[in-house]
Amino acid sequence: MTTTSTTRAPSHSNADVATAPSLEELWMPFTANRAFKRAPRMLVAAKDMYYTAADGRQILDGTAGLWCVNAGHCREPITAAIREQAGVLDYAPPFQMGHPLAFELAQQLTRMLPDGIDRIFFGNSGSEAVDTSLKIALAYWQAKGEPQRVRFIGRQRGYHGVGFGGIAVGGIESNRKQFAGQLLPAVDHLPHTHDLENNAYTRGQPQHGAHFADALEEMVIKHGANTIAAVIIEPVAGSTGVIIPPKGYLERIREICDKHGILLIFDEVITGFGRLGASFGAEKFGVVPDMMTVAKGITNATVPMGAVCVRHDIYDAVVNSSGAGIELFHGYTYSGHPLAAAAGLATLEVYRTEGLFERAASLESFWEDAVHSLRGAPNVIDLRNIGIVGAIELEPRPGAPGARGFETFLKCFEAGVLVRSTADTIALSPPLIVERDQITHMFEVVGNALRNVA
Ligand SMILES: Cc1ncc(COP(=O)(O)O)c(C=O)c1O
Repeated sequence: MTTTSTTRAPSHSNADVATAPSLEELWMPFTANRAFKRAPRMLVAAKDMYYTAADGRQILDGTAGLWCVNAGHCREPITAAIREQAGVLDYAPPFQMGHPLAFELAQQLTRMLPDGIDRIFFGNSGSEAVDTSLKIALAYWQAKGEPQRVRFIGRQRGYHGVGFGGIAVGGIESNRKQFAGQLLPAVDHLPHTHDLENNAYTRGQPQHGAHFADALEEMVIKHGANTIAAVIIEPVAGSTGVIIPPKGYLERIREICDKHGILLIFDEVITGFGRLGASFGAEKFGVVPDMMTVAKGITNATVPMGAVCVRHDIYDAVVNSSGAGIELFHGYTYSGHPLAAAAGLATLEVYRTEGLFERAASLESFWEDAVHSLRGAPNVIDLRNIGIVGAIELEPRPGAPGARGFETFLKCFEAGVLVRSTADTIALSPPLIVERDQITHMFEVVGNALRNVA
C-alpha cells in the first residue's frame, strides 16, 4: 500500500515532481534507509569516468561503482553486445541444457587464470560464488573419501558476501549478529593482518606480518588437519578498509595449506580483472590457490554475474565420483545467463584490446604518490595502496566510530567525487581508464573534505 505522505525521488528530467517514484517502498541494501530517504543521493546516468547525479552534476567515479566497473561506464562494445544478445537469445535454461556463449566465456576466462585453474561454475554474484566454492570444497572431500573435512577457515575482517556461507566465513561481526542463531557450525577465523603500529604509511605490501599466517598452523593443531576442508581469504581485503597482505603472508598460507592438504580459496571478487595491475591477485602476488571466486569486473558490472574458477582435478574428482546423472546438486536459474555471458565476453575483449590491466600497472606509482600526498591531512592515521586501490584511514571520532568517514564521503560527493567509506577508512578504486589529472583531482577533493570535517 502506498503511504499518503510520500518522499519522492528527485527526477532526472524536468518532469513533474509528482511523477517521480516514491522512495518509501524500496528497502535499500546496506543503507541507512531512514537517513537516505530524508536526503537521497541519486545517480541517473553514467559514462566513462563520470556519473550524472539527479541534479545534473557530474560526479567523478572514484570507486568504479562498487569496485566493479573496471572498464568505465556504459562502454559501447559492452552495451552493444548486451543489446544484441537480448534480441537473439534472451534466456536458456542452464540445467541439462546449454548455450554457446556460456561455454565460450568459460573458455576465455580460463585463459586469464593461473595454469591448472580451468573449470568454471557460473552464478550471479560474489556471494553466490563464495557459497558455491564452499559447497564445491565439501563435495570434493566427499568425493575424495574424506567426508569429515567440513571445517572452513576464514579471516577476521574478511568479507565474502552475504550468503549464510559467506557471512559465516566472513569476519565482520556486524554482518553476522542479526543472523547469529543460524550460521555454519564449523568455522574458525585467522587473525587479520592490519597492523598500524608496524606498517602505517606503507607503500604497497607491508614488510611486517607474514607471521600472521602461522595462526593457521595453530588451527590445524586445534582442530586436526583432517577436519579442515578449506581456507578462504581475499588476497587484498577490500570491504573492511583495504588490508594489503604483508610480504610473504600469502606464500606462507599456501605452504601451510599444502602441508596439510587443505584447499585454498582466494576470493578475488574485488581483486580480479586488473584492479591490482594484474589479471588477478594470484598473479600479482605469485601465489596460486585451488579455487578463485570472481564477480563484479567479469561483466564490468553491466549484468550480474559471478563464477567459481576451479582446479581441474577438483572438477574431475567431483564429476567422476558419481554414477551416471547429476554430479553436483547445485546451480542457479541464471547460471551463465546469455546476457551476462555476452557482457562478459565483450568485457574481456575490452580489457584485452585496451590493455587495461597493463594500464593499471603503469599508473600504479603515480597512484601511489597521489594516495600518499594526503600525509599530514587532518585526522589521517594511515595511507595505503596497491594496484589501483587506495585507502585513507582516519582516527575515529571519540564515541562516534564511522562518523568521520561517512561525513568525508558526503563532503566528497557534494564536491563531485564518489569515494567509499567503510567505518573510518575512505577507499578509492576508480575505473582503470582513469586519467592522471582525474587522479590528482580526486585526492585534492578528498584532502579538502578532510580539512572540512571535524
Ligand atoms: C571479496 C568479496 N567477496 C564477495 C563479495 C560479494 O559480492 P556480491 O555483492 O556480488 O554478492 C564482495 C562484494 O563486495 C567482495 O568484496
